[in-house]
Amino acid sequence: MSEAKNEGTNLQLFLKRIPQGVAGPDDFEVRETEIPQIGDQQVLVQAHYLSVDAALRLIVRDSDEFLFRIRPGDMINNTFAGQVIESNNADFHAGDYVLAPLGAQNFGVTNGADLEKIDTSQAPLSGWLGGFGTSGLTAYFAIFEECKPQPGQTVVVNGAAGAVGTMAGQFAKLAGATVIGITGSAQKCQWLTEELGYDIAINYHDRDWFDQLEAAAPERIDVIFDNVGGDILDQSLKHIATRGIVLLCGSTSQYAQDEMVGPANYIWLGTMRARMQGFVVFDYADRYADARRRMAQWIADGQLKLPEYVIDGDVGDFPRAFQGQYEGKNLGKMLVRLPAAR
Ligand SMILES: NC(=O)c1ccc[n+]([C@@H]2O[C@H](COP(=O)([O-])OP(=O)(O)OC[C@H]3O[C@@H](n4cnc5c(N)ncnc54)[C@H](OP(=O)(O)O)[C@@H]3O)[C@@H](O)[C@H]2O)c1
Repeated sequence: MSEAKNEGTNLQLFLKRIPQGVAGPDDFEVRETEIPQIGDQQVLVQAHYLSVDAALRLIVRDSDEFLFRIRPGDMINNTFAGQVIESNNADFHAGDYVLAPLGAQNFGVTNGADLEKIDTSQAPLSGWLGGFGTSGLTAYFAIFEECKPQPGQTVVVNGAAGAVGTMAGQFAKLAGATVIGITGSAQKCQWLTEELGYDIAINYHDRDWFDQLEAAAPERIDVIFDNVGGDILDQSLKHIATRGIVLLCGSTSQYAQDEMVGPANYIWLGTMRARMQGFVVFDYADRYADARRRMAQWIADGQLKLPEYVIDGDVGDFPRAFQGQYEGKNLGKMLVRLPAAR
């Protein structure tokens, strides 16, 4: 069976060269190909939204140190949200919405084993890439299973206005904590407190941002939810509470650095009997459905938002969106909305 939009060509995005600094459009190459044909048991999926993830910068480094990497000449990896166009697989039908880890392109073919069906009655299609997708699940499990903040405790989220940070702050509020966000502009600070329920938000470009943080958390910080690492993490460690938790979710400030640096103020962890711990959302993959049921209820009750920052374009606009994310343009999840979704 076929859906309507099986026409035109397929644009695919490749890494052209190893980026220096934050990746820009010249580091990528768009190629135009035919829309692929499906064989026995295969499924053709059309992308509607591409996910723009800060972690992409980590895997385009010239390094084998990380879990996997993209080399020049490889297609940019991407899990997109899209729709089945044609299927020779009994498990999928034309019209089904799916999450598809098929790369940054308009159309992909798969045997279906890597597809995840999307229930748009739980959250809109785009949400399944952001607050209802990996970013939201990351925040959900990190907050509720690892950090477990208690009412009255203080949680600090850095990268607070980003895809993971916006969800982490909302979950910490639902847990009853006082939530402080750290982000890169006054406008974002205002948005965090007025739209997302953050108690206080601090602009790390203010010279006295750390004084503001100390004043905002007079009982010190029980949980540092760290998305960015670097100096923001390092300074914050000086204000960790006794038996506090530093949850290492990500290190965005380091991904484009030639030499990554860790925090110098780790000594405070010893004094305060605090702990710093790693976290990878995939450890919780068998519980995503449970988390989504709970999140869908909060959304229906008006207690949870799925913030997103959408760029209308095509596959070739992905590099611009990616660069914009590192410039802090996004409020919530950065997405590219492709022609199929418009
Ligand atoms: N552990 C896991 O399982 C897991 C899963 C998903 C994602 N992650 C991690 O979570 C983090 C957030 O990812 P995301 O995709 O949600 O990105 P994001 O937070 O939506 O976007 C990145 C944000 O980081 C901030 N930023 C950029 N450069 C910075 C710098 N040098 N110093 C401080 N802040 C900077 C910018 O906001 P400002 O305006 O605030 O600067 C930007 O908007 C990433 O480190 C990612 O690797 C971890």
